[in-house]
Amino acid sequence: MNAFTFYNPVKLHFGADTLEKLANELTQFGEKVLVVYGGGSIKRNGVYEAVVEVLKKADKTIFELSGVEPNPRVETARKGITLCKEENIDLVLAVGGGSVIDCAKLIVAGAKHEADAWDIVIRKVAVQDALPLGTVLTLAATGSEMNSGSVITNAETEEKFGWGHPAVFPKFSILNPAYTVSVPKDHTVYGIVDMMSHIFEQYFHNTTNTAVTDGMCEGVLRAIMEAAPQLVEDLENVALRETILLAGTVGLNGFLSMGSRGDWATHNIEHAVSAVYDIPHAGGLAILQPHWMRLVVSVNPERFAGLATRVFGVETAGKTFEEVAYEGIDRLSAFWTSLGAPSRLADYEIDATKFEQIVAHAMQNGPFGNFKQLQEVDVRTILQNAL
Ligand code: NZQ
Ligand code: ZN
Repeated sequence: MNAFTFYNPVKLHFGADTLEKLANELTQFGEKVLVVYGGGSIKRNGVYEAVVEVLKKADKTIFELSGVEPNPRVETARKGITLCKEENIDLVLAVGGGSVIDCAKLIVAGAKHEADAWDIVIRKVAVQDALPLGTVLTLAATGSEMNSGSVITNAETEEKFGWGHPAVFPKFSILNPAYTVSVPKDHTVYGIVDMMSHIFEQYFHNTTNTAVTDGMCEGVLRAIMEAAPQLVEDLENVALRETILLAGTVGLNGFLSMGSRGDWATHNIEHAVSAVYDIPHAGGLAILQPHWMRLVVSVNPERFAGLATRVFGVETAGKTFEEVAYEGIDRLSAFWTSLGAPSRLADYEIDATKFEQIVAHAMQNGPFGNFKQLQEVDVRTILQNAL
């Protein structure tokens, strides 16, 4: 393992009736609360009403920013930042999925700086401080509820970048599996693909002696793979929602990368694709990740074979590590397809026309990927193979 310092200050309230905890959390903050949400799902499933009731009971003055897009836009965050500054907001409460939370993270940071929000995303301006942020999560996927990362799109420049800072860790996050029951099948599947992909990104590293985190990654993957096929057939099953919700949080709250540095190349390429084509993040991952895997198997076939055996149940007798590894990747692809995830760029009507723009975006900071460093030619190969 590498030496590491672990810091995660997010207070997690998980389970049924956790909204009761919101009232208690609210006592720590001032009177003005900005509620940030998306396109209206929280109004249809009753979560908005429940949250507003708690805020009113706590005598808070409520401000609202709605309409945060999936793949949240910097323009929307700018509106929230202006509101925070004009109204002297005391707490930002994000109610929604990863997009809403990511947008709220930029709002809380931007509210404490004079610089334009995009300069924070591109790291031209170093974050010094942020307003407090709380979250009520409604979709299991990104782990944003318990990490300090955020991914923001600039539609004008067709760019999408991740950024992060410890100041934007939520102070608290409320996770009630019942709030995720209304997530439709497609976004349920995207969430499952995203959390699995986060685990793969962290599993593929070149650090030795990582038995604890390897086991945690494999265990969480097995739990997801057992629950997911049942859940897509039974979307209202709260017990299955509960499993998937916790898996998404553990998938990207730092636990799985204690002592090692994950790869993250697939995410970088996907962000480049969805910057140009505005497709769902995990739709892109489902298409790209198996191709990334096939390209990098040779770095450590034994590690791939271990995953194939212990997570995908591939038999090893009489086979080389490479053969076992490729069988595992094929099973992963088949698993995602069986859930209903896309498998080719053509599924989103994406052809090679804008490949050079995507490659340039992905290569913006030079070669990338910690398991295997990818060059331009590798990115092109992955995109071509994904057509
Ligand atoms: O906008 P509303 O009306 O709320 O609808 C949303 C949206 O259309 C809907 N939804 C959310 N909760 C629902 C619901 N519909 C019914 N019932 C509910 N309970 O689902 C749709 C997708 O929501 P979104 O928040 O976009 O999904 P997700 O949580 O997958 O977030 C995706 C974004 O997160 C970024 C992605 O790049 C993408 O922009 N990521 C953030 C990360 C992080 N901060 O750590 C890491 C990830 O790798 C990822 O890149
Ligand atoms: Zn992701």
